[in-house]
Amino acid sequence: MGRPKGNPRKEHYYQAAKRHGYRARSAYKLRQIATRHKLLKGVRIAVDLCSSPGGWSQVLREIEQGIEIIAVDLNPMAPVENVKFIQGDITDEKIIVQIEELTRGAADLIVSDCSPKVTGNWELDVARQLFLAETTLDLGHRLLGPKGRVLAKVFQGSGFQEFLMQSRSRFRTVKLIKPDASRKTSAEIYLLATGPRKNEAN
Ligand SMILES: C[S@@+](CC[C@H](N)C(=O)[O-])C[C@H]1O[C@@H](n2cnc3c(N)ncnc32)[C@H](O)[C@@H]1O
Repeated sequence: MGRPKGNPRKEHYYQAAKRHGYRARSAYKLRQIATRHKLLKGVRIAVDLCSSPGGWSQVLREIEQGIEIIAVDLNPMAPVENVKFIQGDITDEKIIVQIEELTRGAADLIVSDCSPKVTGNWELDVARQLFLAETTLDLGHRLLGPKGRVLAKVFQGSGFQEFLMQSRSRFRTVKLIKPDASRKTSAEIYLLATGPRKNEAN
């Protein structure tokens, strides 16, 4: 959604990811957000939703060697050292129960870089992506402890403002982040929500 002009293979972060051995250029988006917002501070259990091919899991593992990481994707993912991988749909209750068992109901961080299979129909693609972002926030409510954080990619299109308002009512603080590695032409933005309001009406 929003490709740079020219040959994307010549692009700075694409080249840097290749040199560094990251599986996806998007690894730099998480690296920048994690550094700037101290994302891994105090984290013991992290969940990487929509993780394949595994760039974000690589970054989480690289920054914090000691944490438990559970990664989930529809597509297969080549192993990342000490990352438990579940292949399945994050909207499927059976898969959610598996994540819940592995996190023992006490995840500290959920990161989510979900994109649906792009159809080329902008409205439909945005609606499907928004559904994945909403699912991520629901999982945040269900799986995170009281100080837990969720980082979710979302496209700024139809329904975005409502999503933002809902996030603000369900979490204590919400920030929007556009990391340098995210293309200026892309509609994507990252929402960082902290502290699910579990026992309050929302
Ligand atoms: C942009 S890629 C993620 C890249 C990843 N963060 C990385 O650094 O390697 C988006 C991923 O979302 C996954 N995805 C889309 N819908 C999903 C769903 N319902 N459940 C699980 N994964 C899904 C796709 O299979 C795809 O691998």
